[in-house]
Amino acid sequence: MNRIEPHTLAPPPELAPSVPAVEVLSAEKTYTNGTQALLPVDLSIAEGEFVTLLGPSGCGKSTLLKMVAGMLEPSDGRLLVWRKPVAQLHDCPHKLSFVFQSPTLMPWASVQTNVRLPLDLGGVPRKEADARVMESLALVGLEKFADALPRALSGGMQMRVSIARGLVTQPDLLLMDEPFGALDEITRHKLDADLLELWRKKKLTVIFVTHSIHEAVFLSSRVVMMAARPGRVVEQFHIDEPYPRSADFMVTPEFARHAKRLQDSLLRASSHADEEATR
Ligand SMILES: Nc1ncnc2c1ncn2[C@@H]1O[C@H](COP(=O)(O)OP(=O)(O)OP(=O)(O)O)[C@@H](O)[C@H]1O
Ligand SMILES: [Mg+2]
Repeated sequence: MNRIEPHTLAPPPELAPSVPAVEVLSAEKTYTNGTQALLPVDLSIAEGEFVTLLGPSGCGKSTLLKMVAGMLEPSDGRLLVWRKPVAQLHDCPHKLSFVFQSPTLMPWASVQTNVRLPLDLGGVPRKEADARVMESLALVGLEKFADALPRALSGGMQMRVSIARGLVTQPDLLLMDEPFGALDEITRHKLDADLLELWRKKKLTVIFVTHSIHEAVFLSSRVVMMAARPGRVVEQFHIDEPYPRSADFMVTPEFARHAKRLQDSLLRASSHADEEATR
């Protein structure tokens, strides 16, 4: 008799309950100098979502992302990653990676040494680490540049190295704080498209920060709008459009409709902050 493998008993994906990858439970942040960066935030992000945080400067996007990463403690409330406090993530099979706005590469070290850094720090044996580095570089199309120094690469390529370094630990959750903000428009579009492909291929959960409404609509399954002074979540938008998304999506009426809704919301979020500032 054929044995029924346990996974064949799993409900089909559309019926499976969504697993929360990230739960922000009334987490708030006041810095030691008294700046109230975030009022209590409640946010649940399901496994496989691509969520973008959008909002005016100072609304607490980076603060929220750093708290999810465990780089910053909330003043009150809790944050769970796959149902565990982020500090206990080492005991769980899931991993997260943080990609910063600037590539932050070691200028004296080759591309592959830069990408290998998290594995070296984690004590992964050299042979296994080298194989994973090459795999990660291939994912971002840079395998031919493994021996190059960062200064020999363009800004966009350096950012790819930084993403490869983020992927080398095979994370399930990728946190990206304005990763393409400093790049020209064409390079940014190319990296956006590549990121979407990676997200789908690797079944990642992504929390992405940007100032660009168009980037937010193109990439996200959901956009979380935040306002400043004090920072808080004000609205959320589902970008209910099919993937894969190509550049053609950006010239559709649906894209324009989503962009307009986000723009109106961003204006509301920003004008509220201006009113607060002039009080
Ligand atoms: N280390 C810190 N100490 C004190 N205040 C801070 C610190 N980091 C950030 N802030 C303040 O907290 C608020 C939120 O900052 P945060 O950097 O999270 O905003 P942001 O939305 O990421 O802004 P931007 O779009 O400019 O990157 C701001 O008022 C900021 O000045
Ligand atoms: Mg920021």
